[in-house]
Amino acid sequence: MCGIVGLIGSPNATNIVLNGLKRLEYRGYDSSGIASMGADSLISIQKAVGKIAALEELLARTPLPPAIMAMGHTRWATHGKATALNAHPHRIDNVAVVHNGIIENFQELREEIAAADITLQTETDTETVPALIQLALNQSKSALQALQAALPRLEGAFALGIMLEDDPKTLYATRRGAPLCVGIGDGVHYIASDPLALAEHTNKFIFLEEDDIAVLTTDKITLYNGNGQEVTRPTQLIDLSGILATKGGYKHFMLKEMHEQPAVVSNILAAYLEDDVLTLPALNWADITSVNIIACGTAYYAGLVGKNNLEQLAGIPVNVDVASEFRYRNPPLQKDGLFIAISQSGETADTLAALEYAKRHGQHILAVTNTPTSSIARAADVVLNIYAGQEIAVASTKAFMGMITVFALMGLQAGQIRKKIDSQTFTAHLQALKELPAKLTQTLSNDAQHTKTADLFRDANSALFLGRGTLHPLALEGALKLKEISYIHAEGYASGEMKHGPIALVDEHLPVVNLASSSDGLLEKTISNMKEVEARHGKVILITDQTAAQTLDADIAKTATLITVPEVPAITAPMVFTVPLQMLAYHVATMRGTDVDQPRNLAKSVTVE
Ligand code: F6R
Repeated sequence: MCGIVGLIGSPNATNIVLNGLKRLEYRGYDSSGIASMGADSLISIQKAVGKIAALEELLARTPLPPAIMAMGHTRWATHGKATALNAHPHRIDNVAVVHNGIIENFQELREEIAAADITLQTETDTETVPALIQLALNQSKSALQALQAALPRLEGAFALGIMLEDDPKTLYATRRGAPLCVGIGDGVHYIASDPLALAEHTNKFIFLEEDDIAVLTTDKITLYNGNGQEVTRPTQLIDLSGILATKGGYKHFMLKEMHEQPAVVSNILAAYLEDDVLTLPALNWADITSVNIIACGTAYYAGLVGKNNLEQLAGIPVNVDVASEFRYRNPPLQKDGLFIAISQSGETADTLAALEYAKRHGQHILAVTNTPTSSIARAADVVLNIYAGQEIAVASTKAFMGMITVFALMGLQAGQIRKKIDSQTFTAHLQALKELPAKLTQTLSNDAQHTKTADLFRDANSALFLGRGTLHPLALEGALKLKEISYIHAEGYASGEMKHGPIALVDEHLPVVNLASSSDGLLEKTISNMKEVEARHGKVILITDQTAAQTLDADIAKTATLITVPEVPAITAPMVFTVPLQMLAYHVATMRGTDVDQPRNLAKSVTVE
């Protein structure tokens, strides 16, 4: 989603901002822009629609004047189309602003601004911000006072970078409900919505708290809280050395990240298992009577797999909810309940808001995340890192693998503490997990089957994914992966639900992907569902393990297109079955020539609700 990067103190300011914006490209955006403060204390702005390359070309043709202060933005359109006019920075008179988030009361503010004779040029909510600041400046306030007067008027979520011609040697930043950090360099001070943007420049960061205002000059960083008091915030050292991501010889980041999955599982086992003893941060599992798991998108599907783990291995009832539904339903929560927020980025606005709701209602908060410095991690009582490393492709793959692996360990830990698993079963589960990296590597090497099956989607407009038990969430995830990167409409369903509606879609054009494992006792039922599809001339695809494949009757074996995975016990079946679903989506997308790593309209980190 939108990204911010800015700095003061380097003669190379514009280029540093441009490179920072490139680092944020993976988050998804549709236009970009840069503002710089020239030596003459005047702000200049350039903006372009499309990839950063378009902005770079524009800057090559029409460079910004030399500057030691600049700020830039990648915009993911919310209010107003993706045009150069609507792109950030937005400027009113002497004030320029870059903004992540949404100003919810912008209509009301527009009327007030119009009444004060300021004409807004764009369709955006953002333009109201520099206008409000300019109005405050007009009342002869200092720059800081103008910000302190204007910012409380804003409703919604925002992270802002601000430059003012009235105060040309200072860069301002603030945030509420959207992330923003300050980077500390050698004589250079930075702002960024994601530390990754500054990976080449610093590893020292201050994360702003709600309503903080950061005042950056070349030699000083001063922070004020929402009450106007000067405050200090901790400086955190973040190791970004491994993060300067490259494709490492793969055609796409997504492909590279799928191939990193065995390593992700190994990282998790190394972090949370020592001499066959689980070392996850201990929770009060013996006393927990229920769990709420909240997340969005792929992370939500990981939560559905997690529900299976906690229910089957530890006998704890689990509710899993989409964060955007949970947060507005005002659900009653049992006091001292456990609330688990899952988020790769740790910045998803709805998940964060659901977490805040749970916190207000006395829940114990556990964050399962790939970003331990994120807003969600910082708001949690306990953090479980999924150790997937930076995920660049918009379509989540290795983070999903990390999430479901962590849930398997969490289920085992809870089951052990609650005495629901005997030591023999525990050891068998651990053994399966230890063998998982090798099984994933084996599955990843099965590419011929994935590419061959992808061909069945060449002319498809729609596809169905069916699964039961722990493979049901995978059917949902398989459908999501396919639709987000290939733009083919796809639905995931519980196999048993097919007869209750989706079967009407089946004809000779519809690929139906069935997931069936020999480890869960549900194989026969899934085979029956497949036969129903076959009888209606659907294109039957079966992802199954080698043992199950051998037991298929001759008819199915002849007509279905088979992808086989290694046979594994139920605890690791979701991980192994994930791989062909990802690979299938990937190969269909490359066959159709879509932008695999940055699919249209999508953002990596969804920081607006
Ligand atoms: C799908 C995908 C999204 C995210 C969702 C939540 O491939 O990536 O559905 O899973 O936006 O994101 P996080 O996990 O960052 O909260």
